[in-house]
This record gives sequence, structure tokens and C-alpha cells, in this order.
Amino acid sequence: MTDHRLRLGVNIDHVATVRNARGGAYPDPLRAAKLAEAAGADGITAHLREDRRHISDADIEGLAEALSVPLNFEMAATDEMQAIALRHKPHAVCLVPEKREERTTEGGLEVAREENRLAHFIAPLRDAGCRVSIFIAADRPQIEAAHRIGAAVIELHTGAYCDAHAEGRFDERDAELARLREMSAFAHSLGLEVHAGHGLTYDTVQPIAAFPEVRELNIGHFLIGEAIFRGLDPAIREMRRLMDEARG
Ligand code: PXP
Repeated sequence: MTDHRLRLGVNIDHVATVRNARGGAYPDPLRAAKLAEAAGADGITAHLREDRRHISDADIEGLAEALSVPLNFEMAATDEMQAIALRHKPHAVCLVPEKREERTTEGGLEVAREENRLAHFIAPLRDAGCRVSIFIAADRPQIEAAHRIGAAVIELHTGAYCDAHAEGRFDERDAELARLREMSAFAHSLGLEVHAGHGLTYDTVQPIAAFPEVRELNIGHFLIGEAIFRGLDPAIREMRRLMDEARG
């Protein structure tokens, strides 16, 4: 495997969403994570939200103990989450914005506006050996700020591109894609590792997977939905196949 293989991080949050709809123990996100590993996921992503609407503290504990692939722990930049991250020391911590009223992570983090606070916030995480990733819009000032605060990784928000595709706004989709392409090259030129994700599907993954600077995609909701129809293992394998095909 070359160093430049595009990695696939599978986000298992929505297995927990289905479990929590009934409040019981199944479907078990940890079982999904192990299955995803076996299907070729290079990492597992889980977002512990402040309101615990899907992933729970116990899920994070279980994942941190049981995974053989890296855990990418998504969290808001709060003291509570920092303490949890420092307890588990996951491979990666991805900082995301969080609003209680949103259905999903709607935009990227405003790094430029909070540069000093975030620089202090990530320092102990870096010292603990976590790779710090910042989830941001494909926006030059945000990328520059992420670089200045010492993040190792940025994850570019692909939501606007995917929404434009789904709603048939193809000119906008193409403009978003061009912006993502330009900004992934820019971030790479600063020495940042570039990841991307949010809203990706079989229809939208390939143009993003083809960006040579992108090293990892994080994909969740679509894969968990697709698993209803074809099973989680084949759903992940098909995503992997499309990524490899786009990568050439
Ligand atoms: N990357 C980040 C930073 C996210 O917050 C999410 C959603 O939790 C994803 C990737 C995955 O998005 P989706 O579930 O739409 O594939």
C-alpha cells in the first residue's frame, strides 16, 4: 500500500441514531465499527455531541478500547470534550462547530474568528499525541488560520457541493467543486494534510476522491442508509471501489 492511498473513514454515528430511536442496545455502533474495519475502513469516525443525540460516552469508551484502526473523534471545542479526548487519547481529534438546533454539522468551524482560543485549546491535545483536524469550509482565510494555530489536518466540508448536486443546481455544484479543488491544493501547499467529508454518496464521491491532495474521506450517513438495502459490508466495499477507481 503506498503512502498516497486515499483512506476511508467510516462514520458510525447514525447506527447510534437508530439505536437511540428505541433507547435499547441495538443496533450496536461498536459492532458496526468492527464490521466496517473488516470491510476495509481505514478508520472509524464518531461524533460525541454535547446533547448525546447519537453516540454516547460509553460508545466512545468501547471504540477507544476495541478498534484496531484509528479512531477519529469528532467534537466541539469545549472543555468537557477536551477532557474526554484527553482521557481516551484517540488517534485524531476533529474539531467541528456544533449548534443544538441543527440537524447535522451545517458549516465549518470559524477558526479565523477564534484563533487565539483554538490555538490554546488544541495545544494539550497535540501534546497528548492526537492529530488535530479542523473541519472548515473551503475558504482561504479559514485554511490560513488553521495552519497558524498548528493543526496537522484540515477536513474540507463537502456539504454544499453535495446539496447542490442533489438539488440539480449543477452550475453551483461545479463552482463548489472548483473551490474545493483549489483550496485542497492551497492547504496542501501550506503543509496541511487534507481530508474531506459530509454528505458524500456514490454519486458525489468520485470528483472529490480524484483530488490528489486529499488523503482521507469521512463518510457516514449515506453508508448507514445504504446498509439497509445491501448490508454494511457491501455498502462500504462499493464506496471503496469508487474511491479507488476515481484515484486511478
Ligand atoms: N466529517 C465531519 C467533520 C462530519 O461532521 C461529518 C458528519 O458527522 C462527516 C464527515 C460525515 O458526514 P455524512 O454523515 O454526511 O457522510
